[in-house]
Amino acid sequence: MLVDQLGRPLRDLRISVTDRCNLRCTYCMPASVFGPDYAFVPRSELLSFEEIERLTRLFLILGVRKLRLTGGEPTLRRDLSDLIARLARLEGVEDLAMTTNGLLLPRLARELKSAGLRRVTVSLDSLDPDVFGQMNGLGVHPQQVLDGIEAALQAGLGVKINTVVQRGVNDQGLRELWLALRAQAPVRFIEFMDVGNHNGWNMDSVVPSSEVLARLSEGSETSVFDSLSPDYRGEVAARHRDAQGHEVGLISSVTAPFCGDCSRARLSAVGALYTCLFASAGTDLRAPLRAGATDEQLMGLLTGVWSGRSDRYSEERGEQTRQSKVEMSYIGG
Ligand code: GTP
Ligand code: 5AD
Ligand code: SF4
Ligand code: SF4
Repeated sequence: MLVDQLGRPLRDLRISVTDRCNLRCTYCMPASVFGPDYAFVPRSELLSFEEIERLTRLFLILGVRKLRLTGGEPTLRRDLSDLIARLARLEGVEDLAMTTNGLLLPRLARELKSAGLRRVTVSLDSLDPDVFGQMNGLGVHPQQVLDGIEAALQAGLGVKINTVVQRGVNDQGLRELWLALRAQAPVRFIEFMDVGNHNGWNMDSVVPSSEVLARLSEGSETSVFDSLSPDYRGEVAARHRDAQGHEVGLISSVTAPFCGDCSRARLSAVGALYTCLFASAGTDLRAPLRAGATDEQLMGLLTGVWSGRSDRYSEERGEQTRQSKVEMSYIGG
């Protein structure tokens, strides 16, 4: 079995299909940087569906079992359901999910589900229109995301919610959000991370997951949650359940990093392979692909990258953030 320098297998491939997004979340693609003149990747530089399918097939041979489509916002990629159909029929795929802001799901959910998508994780940071409008940078109303969640559920997709927590920004409304959504889908609260180079991260803006859990229990004397054991090795979210059986997940990459079990590779929209969310550089797969490399040559490249991997950024971070990291909009979450 292919393992890296720290003995971690390659199980999970996250595929970014575009670097564009129809939101401008302040912690990811702030409008001041990603403005009207920002140069997004031209179409010819994006991996084609054929290229993504070919690479994915090779990753599956090397041990990948779980695929996740990301962006930017993956639903902005034209004909996305064609890509999903190609990936869904590859041998070895045990899970096929997508991370999305949900805005286009009312239009697309059924089509994506029919093509073979199994689950979506929808990002929603606040139910307060002012707070959410501010955080998404464009004043988009939370109801639009709720409509997307509803459409996904109606289409029969599995749904989880991701909520990034920032102190002094959306941390007042966490309990309200959880109470409103818990009956529909598990909510996962994510500690604000220092991804990319533009989000002004500092330790003071992180609300530790322990505090999030305490806030969700507000009004009761003790925590109302039982902790659950992981669904699979290397699960990112620590799951808890309330007395009625509703699930909440805590993703504590700052206060309780999970690099020890990290089996995720990330493929950018232009075909660069990253072995960490916080990497400064990736390995270009597109050039050899377009220069006519054989499957064996490409697999040799993938094997070399993974077996040399020793990333454990979140465990090493401390109070200081690394300079010049890849932007999250290039490689998804
Ligand atoms: P499932 O459990 O399969 O639903 O997926 P997941 O927990 O991997 O879900 P998702 O991709 O939505 O990840 C949730 C969030 O956790 C991401 O958006 C990131 O913010 C964070 N995250 C995921 N993977 C990593 C990782 O490898 N490192 C760090 N530091 N954060 C991660
Ligand atoms: N910290 C934590 N989570 C983030 N995400 C994007 N940027 C950050 C950050 N700086 C989340 C999004 C989405 C997923 C792709 O990653 O909200 O749920
Ligand atoms: Fe777009 Fe998601 Fe980044 Fe927000 S977090 S700007 S929705 S890619
Ligand atoms: Fe994996 Fe890097 Fe995240 Fe650690 S910081 S869990 S190595 S992606």
